[in-house]
Amino acid sequence: MALRDPFRPSEILLLGPGPSPVDPAVAAAMAAPTLGHLDPEFIALMDRVQQDLRVVLGTANRFTIPISGTGSAGMEAAIVNLVEPGDRVVVGVHGVFGGRMVDLVRRQGGEVVVVEAPFGQPLDQEGMARAILGGATRLVGFVHAETSTGVLQPFDGIVSAAREVGALVLGDCVTSLAGAPVEADARGLDAVYSGTQKCLSVPPGLAPFTLSDAAIDRIRGRSGPSTSWYLDVGLLSAYWKEGGDRVYHHTAPVQMVYGLARGLDLVIDEGLEARFERHRAVAAALYRGLDVLGLRCLVDPAFRTPMLTSVGVPEGVDEAGLRRFLRAEHHIEIGAGLGAFRGRAVRIGLMGHGARLTNVRRLVAALGDGLSRVGHPVDVGAALRAVG
Ligand SMILES: Cc1ncc(COP(=O)(O)O)c(C=O)c1O
Repeated sequence: MALRDPFRPSEILLLGPGPSPVDPAVAAAMAAPTLGHLDPEFIALMDRVQQDLRVVLGTANRFTIPISGTGSAGMEAAIVNLVEPGDRVVVGVHGVFGGRMVDLVRRQGGEVVVVEAPFGQPLDQEGMARAILGGATRLVGFVHAETSTGVLQPFDGIVSAAREVGALVLGDCVTSLAGAPVEADARGLDAVYSGTQKCLSVPPGLAPFTLSDAAIDRIRGRSGPSTSWYLDVGLLSAYWKEGGDRVYHHTAPVQMVYGLARGLDLVIDEGLEARFERHRAVAAALYRGLDVLGLRCLVDPAFRTPMLTSVGVPEGVDEAGLRRFLRAEHHIEIGAGLGAFRGRAVRIGLMGHGARLTNVRRLVAALGDGLSRVGHPVDVGAALRAVG
């Protein structure tokens, strides 16, 4: 009988909007033997992951866990627990992921007030403040690093306005966490979710998640249970109960928790500040190389998020063709432009383990090759010298 061949993926350098390259130390940790999900050793690891997540999120919140599911599960967990029918919720939409937040709030029966920014620009904080102060707002949501555009959203003004009316603040930090400062407590975020596959450089599958005591009080005061059983914070807190008897809720994805634990070790060993600086320095090198290639970054430098860059494609160059060429000839993945950038931009991700100068050099050389082949000759040597 012929045996089936195992799946053997090609080695592709992941420089798109995520997933990012998995650190080999994380991959090795995930290959360890599976333990029972209530085994004492695994429970000790759960405690450690919760503690380390607090460090990386910048919080002392007791309710800090990795939700079993991708970043979207984190978004859903926040909204199904924090929103009740009729709640006034202000959502800032400056890209695709803010739009999803609106959809989720509506599905919970919330009354959404949408504040929009043009694609590629940040939300106007004064506009957000007016919307927040314009009624009995219960929750304010926004995306910190909008992966669809590459904008890093300032939010001090959003938090101050929310405080004035007693609204909770929810931040989507899927792409920013471990690549740019989140500092949930110091900056006043009541609820934060993220994903493992961006700047943590762990495969997709868990959503780091935290809730302030005020958010927990809000959930305790709900008039009825959350509409989701799987994502119910009350039930999850009995399972993720540090130092206590953990009550089975669902079977945690054991291997993913090993991977996240190792990913968090690497972040903490590197140091948050050093890691943020690495992301900034590598992004700056990319901007220099792109400039010499004649490629334009679409977001104003003041609002660019270092781990994700939207880059305009010159007139006459087929962006999908360019991406296919990079994948086929250089084994590099980059992302398509989305929304208003669709068809005229690509998205470059330099996240976590992927945020390295060697990767910038490889990408700049590959982009230069791709442009030259479609009749846009460029000086790759000069671009590489600019990268440094
Ligand atoms: C800002 C942002 N929010 C939410 C998500 C959804 O996360 P996931 O695809 O892991 O479910 C993503 C994914 O790219 C994202 O970039």
